[in-house]
Amino acid sequence: MKISVIGTGYVGLIQAVGLASFGFDVTGIDIDESKVKMLNNGVCPLYEDGLEKLLKKHVGNNLKFTTSYEETIDSDVIFLCVGTPQDKEGNTDLKYIFSAVEMLKKHFQSQKWLVIKSTVPIGTNRLLKERLTGYDIEIISNPEFLKEGVALKEFLNPERIVLGFDENDSSSKEILEKIYKNFKEKNIPFILTNYETSEMIKYASNAFLATKISFINELSKLADKTNADIKTVAYSMGLDDRIGKKFLNAGIGYGGSCFPKDVKSLIKQFEYNGVVPKIITATNSVNENQIKWFFGKIKNYYGNINGKTFAILGLAFKPDTDDLRESAGIKLIDLLLCEGAIIKGYDYIKQARENACNIYKSNASKPFHGSNFYVLDNLYDTVSNVDGIIITVEDNKLNYEDWSNIFNLASEKIIFDGKNILHKEKVEKFGFEYFGVGLK
Ligand code: UDX
Repeated sequence: MKISVIGTGYVGLIQAVGLASFGFDVTGIDIDESKVKMLNNGVCPLYEDGLEKLLKKHVGNNLKFTTSYEETIDSDVIFLCVGTPQDKEGNTDLKYIFSAVEMLKKHFQSQKWLVIKSTVPIGTNRLLKERLTGYDIEIISNPEFLKEGVALKEFLNPERIVLGFDENDSSSKEILEKIYKNFKEKNIPFILTNYETSEMIKYASNAFLATKISFINELSKLADKTNADIKTVAYSMGLDDRIGKKFLNAGIGYGGSCFPKDVKSLIKQFEYNGVVPKIITATNSVNENQIKWFFGKIKNYYGNINGKTFAILGLAFKPDTDDLRESAGIKLIDLLLCEGAIIKGYDYIKQARENACNIYKSNASKPFHGSNFYVLDNLYDTVSNVDGIIITVEDNKLNYEDWSNIFNLASEKIIFDGKNILHKEKVEKFGFEYFGVGLK
């Protein structure tokens, strides 16, 4: 069976490399020539644990990349993994989906199965089916639930496979079960349903997780005022199986390419259908305020931050990724820069540091147009001579740093931990003044 994967971003690249590792003949297609060139040379354009190694193993064997949609002619199955960004109002912009389908249409000469992995609003798969009336093609909805940083591991061991079919489609189930045979053998649950249910599962999952985070974040503000300890609250709540431990870590809000965009899109989908969303709207607004609230805490402490220097530890939206999209660290940097602060930024992931340099066109020796943002390649240089250390990523590696040395290097011994990741007692023992999110 020949497979094409359209789009080589975080979703498409994992899908292409992952399916090649199952032994399929895979062609990855992307309009970005330089990316295609890199991939054919075995170089991964994005950072994801284990991905480059697997890419190198399969590229040139049963995996290749091209910019030509013509190469899809002899593919039986095509996975559509292009981006679905949000427009100015927060709606999902489907322009990349539609333009990919237009390009594909030119090469539909035999029967094909088009699998939509991109996150699309409820109703999109049916709309595509209608647009392709007259072609010998089946559309299947197959949302992905991968977390960046562990995406390859999760691709190989998913928690569930969701497939949405058209009611009259009798061939796709067998094809998809063949592709995902490994998962069937591992008894991973398959949810076979209609398009709309499949599409909603994706939004419901992301919005629910985002809501858990906003829930605990809202409580953290009350904890801050009342001497309650949000970490102990979350831990105790999590011991109740019905609640569960995960996604109850209070902090400066969720970021990334999915939660903020999908929550906003879901709100728009409610509105479009004439239903008033209340919980999801609150999830979004709590998240948007959380970073401002934390910034307010920092400002209150210093009074005036103009001219103060801060170390920001964490540039990407979470650990083990180079992805800066909707990163709370970057949002905080922007707020601090606007009030005249000087920022020294650091991230454990080199590619995240490079991406931050690209955003601000800055590096350690040359700030951009008088901007006060510097990216450093070493954590200890980053914390030297600063007026405060601000943690913006929940990376446990931070607990293994030499905090006694950091204490000596920093001018002012103050930590604002926006992710409650540091062991408070430990850093306080070294003499730091420590502020977390909703801690006693
Ligand atoms: C998410 C979903 O988890 C995944 O299933 C979906 O396919 C894509 O969106 P991802 O964006 O990679 O994955 O990151 P995730 O690990 O879910 O974290 C999202 C954000 O929430 C991060 O900014 C993280 O820092 C934050 N977060 C997470 C919290 O603030 N508290 C928590 O308890 C958990």
